[in-house]
Amino acid sequence: MYLCHVQHLTSQEPLEEFRQGEALMLSQEATASDTKKLYLESYGCQMNFSDSEVVASILVSDGYTTTRNIEDADLVLLNTCSIRDNAEQRIRKRLTEFKSLKKQNPDLVVGILGCMAERLKKNLLEEEHLVDLVAGPDAYRDLPNLLNEVGTGQRAVNVLLSREETYADIHPVRLDQGGISAFVTIMRGCDNMCSFCVVPFTRGRERSRNPQTIVEECRNLVNQGYREVTLLGQNVDSYRWNVNSKGEILNENEITVNFAQLLISVAKVSPELRVRFSTSHPKDMTDEVLEAIRDYPNICKYIHLPVQSGNSDVLYRMNRGYTRAWYLNRIAAIRRIIPNCAISTDIIAGFCGETEEEHQETLSLMREVGFDYAYMFKYSERPKTLAERKFEDDVPDSIKGRRLTEIIELQTACSLRQNQQQIGQIQEILVEGPSRRSQEQYCGRNSQNNVVVFDRKEVVKGQYVHVKILDCTSATLLGELVHFENSALES
Ligand code: SAH
Ligand code: SF4
Ligand code: F3S
Repeated sequence: MYLCHVQHLTSQEPLEEFRQGEALMLSQEATASDTKKLYLESYGCQMNFSDSEVVASILVSDGYTTTRNIEDADLVLLNTCSIRDNAEQRIRKRLTEFKSLKKQNPDLVVGILGCMAERLKKNLLEEEHLVDLVAGPDAYRDLPNLLNEVGTGQRAVNVLLSREETYADIHPVRLDQGGISAFVTIMRGCDNMCSFCVVPFTRGRERSRNPQTIVEECRNLVNQGYREVTLLGQNVDSYRWNVNSKGEILNENEITVNFAQLLISVAKVSPELRVRFSTSHPKDMTDEVLEAIRDYPNICKYIHLPVQSGNSDVLYRMNRGYTRAWYLNRIAAIRRIIPNCAISTDIIAGFCGETEEEHQETLSLMREVGFDYAYMFKYSERPKTLAERKFEDDVPDSIKGRRLTEIIELQTACSLRQNQQQIGQIQEILVEGPSRRSQEQYCGRNSQNNVVVFDRKEVVKGQYVHVKILDCTSATLLGELVHFENSALES
């Protein structure tokens, strides 16, 4: 018997779902006990989590087994995030905790993967003496070779970025066996160059994955009992596949599959499969995508549409490619086409040069839109980004902190109001398992991505149930089951 352990750690995660810092500890079948054991920890966004499943797959094929117990490990890999400075500080602190492990087991191999590996490259080996291996997000196929190099006493680095790599043919090892919700990466990299953002430097150029392999992966997930997929990309609206059936690459304007079409293909895999996606970009989100969400009951009525700021000048400095008016127009399109759609956002407080008036415009936009949820951050300057080169990080930390507090307080009140409006409704919930507080209570999500907690009775995870909403907090809906049989998805 061996166990997998992937730990999701809190606060720096920009995308939803894995903010709770909960560890997933799940078991797989036994294999030979003399194989080398891998312990893998993931930080950052959903894409990093999804990449960890690719890494596990590559290393399991290379003879490794995974362990939940770091003390048993021959290989410890940290899949890292660079999005804000505190994300990197956290990894460095974690590395210091490994010192005693290395003392106990001098053969232990420690590797850094992901965005921090890509950003710092071989400098990481000089800065962090414990580290034996550095591999960037496009170099995971090379891990077996890199580990061989480490085996011969060298330290190994591969941080080459690729224009093609999508790991399309790799079957990710699902690290939460028996799970019901899976991530499926549909594209990698980002071409947007928002001035604050390190992602284009750590993940390279944008490229889309072959749609057939995406649909196939979703079909396999349904066959394994999964009931929800989240399609992942930094800007899913720019998904495009322009290779025809003969394998010929068509020119830029001849797209054979766009994001709306891909969404529909995935939705058609099974009416019992919920389809979510992240992240939409306000400059690119089309009405065609909104119509697909409206027309397919199993595409969840939830859009994460990061605004970053409510002021057009700040948005210009951020190089986001839209204005406040454009963003509000996209919100109006969502409300018109999908009236029951929930909307969440990301907001940055205290970007370079942000005045008090500009900050007030963020608050006023929040009031105008009434977001269901928001992920809110203090601006953190990142090396090599456009903002670092062009602007001064001139908003004092105390002011960033005060503005962030105002944003959070406004959002908490708004989330509470949005949740209160749902009291009395009967909603369809996909059951995820026991709630955090008690085994007697189960939780799941509605189509709008709200967490709903209810008394367990005889429900099992992966089942669709109807729940009447009775009460709420700003973060959770509380309800009671109204009936239990598997039902069709709500429209
Ligand atoms: N691709 C997504 C976001 C990816 S990063 C998009 O374009 O919306 C997730 C979030 O982290 C961003 O939306 C932004 O709000 C935040 N973020 C990115 N860089 C940051 C920085 N330097 N400081 C603070 N927050 C940042
Ligand atoms: Fe970063 Fe902008 Fe790309 Fe999002 S769209 S990953 S914020 S550069
Ligand atoms: Fe994700 Fe962090 Fe990299 S947000 S893309 S892991 S910098």
